[in-house]
Amino acid sequence: MKTLIKNGRVVTAVDDYYGDILVDGQFITLIGKSLDLAADKVIDAKDKLVIPGGIDAHTHLDMPFAGTTSADDFRTGTLAAAHGGTTTIIDFAIQAKGQSIVEALDVWHAKASSKAAIDYGFHMIVTDLAETQVGEMKRLINDDGVTSFKLFMAYPGVLLVDDATIFRAMSIAGDMGGLICMHAENGVVINEIVQRALAEGKTAPKYHALTRPTKAEAEGVNRSIALAEMAGSPVYIVHLSCYDALKKVKEARDEGIAAFAETCPQYLFLDYSYYEEAGFEGAKYVMTPPLREKWNQDQLWTGLKMNDLQVISTDHCPFCFKDQKELGKTDFSKIPNGGPGVENRMSLVYNGGVAQGRINVNRFVELTSTSAAKIFGLFPRKGTIAVGSDADIVVFDPKKKITLSAKTHHMNVDYNCYEGMEVQGVTETVLSRGKVVVENGKYVGKAGDGQFLKRSTVQLR
Ligand code: URP
Ligand code: ZN
Ligand code: ZN
Repeated sequence: MKTLIKNGRVVTAVDDYYGDILVDGQFITLIGKSLDLAADKVIDAKDKLVIPGGIDAHTHLDMPFAGTTSADDFRTGTLAAAHGGTTTIIDFAIQAKGQSIVEALDVWHAKASSKAAIDYGFHMIVTDLAETQVGEMKRLINDDGVTSFKLFMAYPGVLLVDDATIFRAMSIAGDMGGLICMHAENGVVINEIVQRALAEGKTAPKYHALTRPTKAEAEGVNRSIALAEMAGSPVYIVHLSCYDALKKVKEARDEGIAAFAETCPQYLFLDYSYYEEAGFEGAKYVMTPPLREKWNQDQLWTGLKMNDLQVISTDHCPFCFKDQKELGKTDFSKIPNGGPGVENRMSLVYNGGVAQGRINVNRFVELTSTSAAKIFGLFPRKGTIAVGSDADIVVFDPKKKITLSAKTHHMNVDYNCYEGMEVQGVTETVLSRGKVVVENGKYVGKAGDGQFLKRSTVQLR
């Protein structure tokens, strides 16, 4: 099957030109001007951007958490991602305490295979790293294509691991070209503040934010970087939310330390005031770290511009307002943490970034696709438009506007964090490894189109 994409403005992290792209089977095979070639399908991309498929390096599909399970599974979550112009996700598999890491990976393979609409990889959340599991971690890096791991400084008693475990994991990753992704918040101190608040009868959703100070995040980031430096390994801070934490990353990078970080649309476009919405509405925004004071947003944009932040992912972890968020109706600490966003990321970042003049279109591509491909061992197969790369291509209308809403989104969740927000920049057509899966905004693929991606190791130091 050959597909010719004609007349588009082809934009990668470094290119910006008008041209035609020939896709043969799963790959990009030719790029040129006015290609006059026979093809089974021709897509006219006049007045459109033709960009690499988005890579969302942080999703939680079908994830058990806080007595419930995230509302999107691999079928609905990846279908929603495709609608929004994301053609690769890296989801988090979880090792339960004491469980074999290999066994945990098998569980996540079973959740995803035959359901995914787009390609996917896994990071492994490590909660236990005894001697046998050290061997398994090495096996994941060497043989299984799982080259990144998430460790938690938060959620004591559930996901939190101690500094010794973090140091051990970082030492292995540093030796082998793996990467440790850190949930950097001082969860032990936060827990103390949460218990005090509850004892004082402070149970409303806003106390989720008020009990998680930015200093607790900054301390976690600082400690993560120090541990990584001691272990001789790079570190990647996930879902960085505030200036206090960003300063620690910037300071390290200025010293030449291999510290990397992502932020997420919710920290760029939403803020603490959402917790003050009437009744229990604030529960929709209960995520960790929480939404911060609005002034942090400008600082995060500066971080994105200056490459102190390299990636925008979503931390898509949806729980329905009804029945799921409501688990914490009388106690904010029981509200499942997380929010939806996988479908809206590309439009939100284009609108807030490019259309509103904060970043240029190359940086948009870099932040939503290329950097993640490079950091997580997928480049140049993913993250760019080049001969030989997978034909993961998005035809994106930079002028069209849509209003984000739960009424029209495809995520399996009963609210949208950006309800009623008008955004400029809309995904029109999506190719996933050469197959059109979204055409003029309609899903035309099928569950199981997506394949597991074995990722490479990367030397980030
Ligand atoms: O609130 C969040 N972020 N939920 C998902 C789990 C995590 O820490 O990433
Ligand atoms: Zn986290
Ligand atoms: Zn997360």
